[in-house]
Amino acid sequence: MKVSVCGKGGSGKSTIVTLLANEFTTRSYRVLVVDSDESNSGLFWMLGFACPPIALMELVGGRRGLREKMTAKFSSGESEPKMEVLAQDKILLKDIPPQYISKDNNLRLVSTGKILQSLEGCACPMGVLSREFLKKLCLETDEVAIVDMEAGIEHFGRGIETSIDSVLVAVEPSVESLELALRVKELAAGAGVRSTWAILNKITSDEIAMMLKDRLEDKGMAIAGTIHHDPEVFEACLRGHRPTKGRAAEEIRGVVDVLLSQP
Ligand SMILES: Nc1ncnc2c1ncn2[C@@H]1O[C@H](COP(=O)(O)OP(=O)(O)O)[C@@H](O)[C@H]1O
Ligand SMILES: [Mg+2]
Repeated sequence: MKVSVCGKGGSGKSTIVTLLANEFTTRSYRVLVVDSDESNSGLFWMLGFACPPIALMELVGGRRGLREKMTAKFSSGESEPKMEVLAQDKILLKDIPPQYISKDNNLRLVSTGKILQSLEGCACPMGVLSREFLKKLCLETDEVAIVDMEAGIEHFGRGIETSIDSVLVAVEPSVESLELALRVKELAAGAGVRSTWAILNKITSDEIAMMLKDRLEDKGMAIAGTIHHDPEVFEACLRGHRPTKGRAAEEIRGVVDVLLSQP
C-alpha cells in the first residue's frame, strides 16, 4: 500500500506521517517513509533517526546530474510527466543501497532530496524522481510506503500521486487548510487516486471538529480521523522520539484501520 500525506505547511503532515509509521510498525508492517518534501529538514529526527539518509537524488548524479539528464531528455522530445531517470524497472526495499535508506527494525526512511542552497533552481527534478521512485517501488503485502509530501498542491501537477493508493490531507483549523483540502480532493480524483480522506489535526474542541467535519463532508470529502492537539506528540517530535503514547498516538489507530479496510 502506498499512502501520501499532504496539506498546508504546518498542518501536521510530518507529524501524521510519524504517527502512521509508528502505528503500522506496531502492527508488524514494514514501513518505508518517503520524504518527498524538499524543504522539510526534520523528518528524520521526528522518526528517531540520528541523521538523514543520503538523498536518492545522489543516485542519479545529484541535482546537477539529474538536471542534465532531464535537459537531454527534453531535447529529445520527452515531456516531463512521463520522463524517467532511474535505470531500474522495479525497486524493491532490499535493493536500495544502505547509505540511501535509514533503518530501525521495521521502519525505513528515504529522502528524495533537499534544497541546500539559495538559487538552486526549482524543485522539478525532485518531483520527477519522486514520481518515478514511487511508481517503480514494489511492495509486499506486509509493506507500506508513507510519503511526506511538500506543502501545497504542486506535487499533483508533477503527477507524483499517479501510483498512490490513498491520499490523506492534514487539515488544521484554518480556512486555508480547509480550502486546500477541498482542492486536493479534486486533484487526487483527477490523478486516479482510489481514495482521499481528510485527517482533522490539532483539534482543540468538539465544536471546532464538528465545524470542519460539516464543511468537508458537505463537499463530499470523507474524514479518516480526528487528531487532537496533543502536547505529548509535539514534545516527542521535538525531542526526536517517535510518539508512542498519548492521545494522538491512540487516535491515529482509527486512521490506520480506515486505510487497511480499503479493498
Ligand atoms: N496533533 C498535534 N498536536 C500538537 N502539536 C502538533 C500536532 N500536529 C502537529 N503539531 C505540531 O505542529 C508543528 C507543525 O507540524 P508538522 O508536522 O511539522 O507540519 P508540516 O509537516 O505539515 O509542516 C510541529 O511543531 C508539530 O509538533
Ligand atoms: Mg513537514
